[in-house]
Amino acid sequence: MKGLLLAGGHGTRLRPLTYTGNKHMLPIANKPMLLYGLEHLKNAGINEVGIILGPIKEGVVETIGDGSKFDLKVTYIDQPDPLGLAHAVKVSRDFILDEPFVMYLGDNLLKQGVADFVEIFTKNKLDCVIGVSPVKDPSRFGIAELDEKTGGIIRLVEKPREPKSNLALIGVYTFNSSIFDAVNRIKPSWRNELEITDAIQILVNDGRKVEVERVSGWWKDTGKPEDLLEANQLVLSDLKGSINGEISEKATVTGNLGLGLGSRIKEGVNIRGPAIIGDNCQIGPNVYIGPYTSIGEDCIVKDVEIENSIVMKGSRIENNKRIVDSLIGAYSTILSAESIRPRGYKLVIGERSFAQI
Ligand code: G1P
Repeated sequence: MKGLLLAGGHGTRLRPLTYTGNKHMLPIANKPMLLYGLEHLKNAGINEVGIILGPIKEGVVETIGDGSKFDLKVTYIDQPDPLGLAHAVKVSRDFILDEPFVMYLGDNLLKQGVADFVEIFTKNKLDCVIGVSPVKDPSRFGIAELDEKTGGIIRLVEKPREPKSNLALIGVYTFNSSIFDAVNRIKPSWRNELEITDAIQILVNDGRKVEVERVSGWWKDTGKPEDLLEANQLVLSDLKGSINGEISEKATVTGNLGLGLGSRIKEGVNIRGPAIIGDNCQIGPNVYIGPYTSIGEDCIVKDVEIENSIVMKGSRIENNKRIVDSLIGAYSTILSAESIRPRGYKLVIGERSFAQI
């Protein structure tokens, strides 16, 4: 069994954060999103993974390399144009050969991992297993319509205008080599993509053994900024506290906290977990860090209240304000406007940035 991890998307809805790097390397609870998928594949007993990359490669190859530090063999596969998930399968043929494989969309996070899908696929000698989960907004996803009595698949529809079911395909698919014939038989959709949903429909029509498996824990697709914050909340909810840095006796910490090596929490600081702080951070004085906050390595945080936010590495925040529900890109600086004359907000923010001040 091989793994195929997709990291080719452009992440346009996450600009400006995705102008400078691959969307799948944005941190969730201080870990690049893509590593969650990589670890899930590894934990399902997979040792060989192909990572599909588009034009934005920054961060992926530097972090994952040849995979040896994850005890995996990683091959990079180029998909220059985002022509759809079925196109990603096509370009992977030389890597997959005739082995079965798990395809995992690198911008999806799920609690339970993929081992259960692999087990059902192997045990029941299936041609395809698709993970599904109920959603509130089915027209944003690929949807599975099931026979109420047998639970079998009637139809799979990509982003239906009038959805007949609320069961979304979650972005984890287990295939055998029958999918290669199917991806060659489909035509581009209205969004000019070769849809994997259409290729799986061909397997169903051909009478292949395709089954759906409902996910048991949470699942999050991270297209928009608010999705990143929600994914961060979900991962932090399961955080086990671990303190490797120093906490002043005069600081207050409640709830689970992950504190990295070389980091210091100064006196008077109040932290309410779950929260995670990377290595070599200086936190305080006059700081409140509220639940669901992730602060990357090498950050300085002073005179501020911050809650339900992701602060990426190397950032400095000293500003006497309350920051909530925010995504702060790596090496950013946010200072107080009160000490400067003339008074006012001074902003240097990139194209497509957002500020509510
Ligand atoms: C893709 C799939 C869709 C699936 C979704 C899960 O959508 O085409 O069937 O439900 O991932 O995240 P896309 O991310 O291309 O909009």
